[in-house]
Amino acid sequence: MEVIKNINILEKKIKKIKKTKKIIGLIPTMGNLHKGHIKLISLAKKYVDIVVVSIFVNPMQFDDLLDLKKYPQTFNQDYDILNREKIKILFYPDNHIMYPNGLKNHTYIDIPKLSKIIEGKSRPGHFIGVTTILCKLFNLIQPNFSFFGEKDYQQLLVVKKLVQELNYPIKIISLPTVRLHNGLAYSSRNNNLNSSEKEIAPYLYRIIKKTHNTIIKNKGKNIQKTINKSKKYLIEKGFNIDVFNIYDSNTLDPITQKNKKLIILASVWLGKIRLIDNKKITLKD
Ligand code: PAF
Repeated sequence: MEVIKNINILEKKIKKIKKTKKIIGLIPTMGNLHKGHIKLISLAKKYVDIVVVSIFVNPMQFDDLLDLKKYPQTFNQDYDILNREKIKILFYPDNHIMYPNGLKNHTYIDIPKLSKIIEGKSRPGHFIGVTTILCKLFNLIQPNFSFFGEKDYQQLLVVKKLVQELNYPIKIISLPTVRLHNGLAYSSRNNNLNSSEKEIAPYLYRIIKKTHNTIIKNKGKNIQKTINKSKKYLIEKGFNIDVFNIYDSNTLDPITQKNKKLIILASVWLGKIRLIDNKKITLKD
């Protein structure tokens, strides 16, 4: 595997690949790779000739400096995983390469509305960081496809909007959330859970599933009552709730009686760790 840290080398490499007309797929990551990333790689291999993985813990998307400091960085382990997965190109820049003039006056991409609600409201500036770094990576790597997990559901919608509205010729492919045997979604943040938090964490998805099943059983009636009950269970288990609500799954707007395609979005704190998860709900007409 070639580890590229420098933009000139990357550009030369991409130019060479483009000449051969090979299809490029990009998997942007912040490292600390887990089973979810490995499944993304397998999915990407079905679509493209060359899978490029990037590892960059993007400081622009962290609204909390402590969170950035705590973010697990495990390069050697990641390198071994990518090598085993036969990845040929890893783009692994540092901050000076991606933000040579610093962050303060850097150009940014800001998507109105969709990036300001829910996660965007709780983490101001987060999606500006995500969309800005993705534009930089898309411009440098010029992928034909790019791959994202559905756990970060709002991020996925933000990325799709970015690509559509800025006319990037890139197809966004998403992968359903990959879970541990106990239902907990794989996340780099799970590594920071202590042993008792690890026992509690799976209840998040259990409660989401229960909420989903109750809403289906009630054919979409009394949704608010169901949500309130679920929130009570979450609090009883020890979660601090930031977001637990139901939205239109296409727009993330609040739902009305007419909406049939819904999504439960959850962001909760377990101690100092923020966990997110979701589940779609399809109501029959
Ligand atoms: O989901 C992530 O890991 C990050 O937000 C991404 C897409 C790699 C951008 O830094």
